[in-house]
Amino acid sequence: MTRAVCPGSFDPPTLGHLDIFARASAMFDEVTVAVLVNPGKNGLFSIPDRLELLRAVTSPWPNIRIDSFSGLLVEYCAAGGITTIVKGLRGVSDFDYEIQMAQMNRSLTGVDTLFLPTAPQHAFVSSSLVKQVASYGGDVSAFLPPVVLAAVQATVAPRDR
Ligand code: PNS
Repeated sequence: MTRAVCPGSFDPPTLGHLDIFARASAMFDEVTVAVLVNPGKNGLFSIPDRLELLRAVTSPWPNIRIDSFSGLLVEYCAAGGITTIVKGLRGVSDFDYEIQMAQMNRSLTGVDTLFLPTAPQHAFVSSSLVKQVASYGGDVSAFLPPVVLAAVQATVAPRDR
């Protein structure tokens, strides 16, 4: 049984994330999408809300499960028999940071990281930019699955839209 994890904040999950989940799901027997619980950081969405959104958007893939974790990712992987971390790479600015984390994680426990190039149409999409655009009333419908779009729009007060 091959197991991989797609870790992240997913605040909120975007179509770019979903593309990576779908591609990972075709490569591994089981893929866990794991949301980092970071007590020092308040997100737009609570962890339970993010988990619910992730469950909704990944429901077409039976081998994707949704979970949350705190602490070191490599320890979460070891506890769950996960041998590979899957990350999307949008470009060189992602690479600088991601290669460091991949090398650190591999040196800690031997867990490897598989980088998937983001689909070009999602290369500029990030959760933080989507939140910023939405907060000013911009149209983010091209970047989010419909259920996530509805949740984001519900967080923006009508007077702000
Ligand atoms: O979506 P994000 O915020 O870019 O995801 C970053 C994440 C969750 C993958 C990374 O911060 C992480 O793995 N955090 C867990 C703590 C950890 O293991 N840190 C050491 C990394 S080398």
